[in-house]
Amino acid sequence: MSENENAPYAPSAPAASAQHPHNATSATPTGPGDKPFSLEAVKKVRTLHLAQAKAAGEKFSMLTCYDFLTAQIFDRAGIDMLLIGDSAANVVYGYESTLTVTLDEMIPLVASVARGASRAMVVADLPFGSYEQSPAQAVASAARLMKEGGAHAIKIEANAAMTEWVRAIVRAGIPVVAHVGFTPQSEHALGGFRVQGRGEKSDAVVADARALAEAGAFCVLLEMVTTETARRVDQAVGAVPTIGIGAGNVTTGQVLVWQDAMGMREGKLPKFVKQFAQIGSLLEDAARAYRAEVRSGEFPAQEHTFE
Ligand code: KIV
Repeated sequence: MSENENAPYAPSAPAASAQHPHNATSATPTGPGDKPFSLEAVKKVRTLHLAQAKAAGEKFSMLTCYDFLTAQIFDRAGIDMLLIGDSAANVVYGYESTLTVTLDEMIPLVASVARGASRAMVVADLPFGSYEQSPAQAVASAARLMKEGGAHAIKIEANAAMTEWVRAIVRAGIPVVAHVGFTPQSEHALGGFRVQGRGEKSDAVVADARALAEAGAFCVLLEMVTTETARRVDQAVGAVPTIGIGAGNVTTGQVLVWQDAMGMREGKLPKFVKQFAQIGSLLEDAARAYRAEVRSGEFPAQEHTFE
């Protein structure tokens, strides 16, 4: 069975979002008796399937990911999308700000995740400084993430003034996730980490999302916006799926930085984070146990040694 045979729905989408075949939003019609769409049954997640999930009222999951083994684990767990976010700046490289990470530092991480994922869609962030100058610069950087990194799609922090950027990348055959609402790369311009889209400001977030979806983004990611704004965006972009982080439960998908979600980071976490495990303390305890056994001479034991 071909992977697209899981695809009976043909959601209607804004016309502009089907500018390139990679962004196709309609499925080949299938005959009576075909099973209803289920994202879980999809063998390789494509842009089309995410639109189908929205049409079918099915939610999907995205986690950040930065290495091969973690990609294999998340892929086995059925996470639908893996994001090599510029949060790599903080959680991989230990920089204070996401503004610091470069395209050259992102690409090897993208490549290792792409090698580890067999079902999940691999989405790579355009880091700060790699796209702002012009749509041509954005296309060149996005192409490197695809060609050298093996990404399946890119994410760009954008607003309604950047539709040309999205159009150019989509025209180059690269699927685009448009990140709106709180965009961490504009942290200084936005006056710090603040919830976006409150009150009258909701209209601007909705206008950004609508414009970018019409420019061809196959997905809109919403960070730190009120649930009401997220609900309005989800409706405004029609068939285009939405992904939320701190945007309530009204989006098609959800994303979290995995180290936040699995308890790898110390200190205060954003309100929107739920911890699903305490991997950090588990790892620390295991490292302590190893150290203790090395110091006592208990490890290595007979069974670990060669005679
Ligand atoms: O870089 C990142 O991890 C992100 C998520 C917060 C969406 O952009």
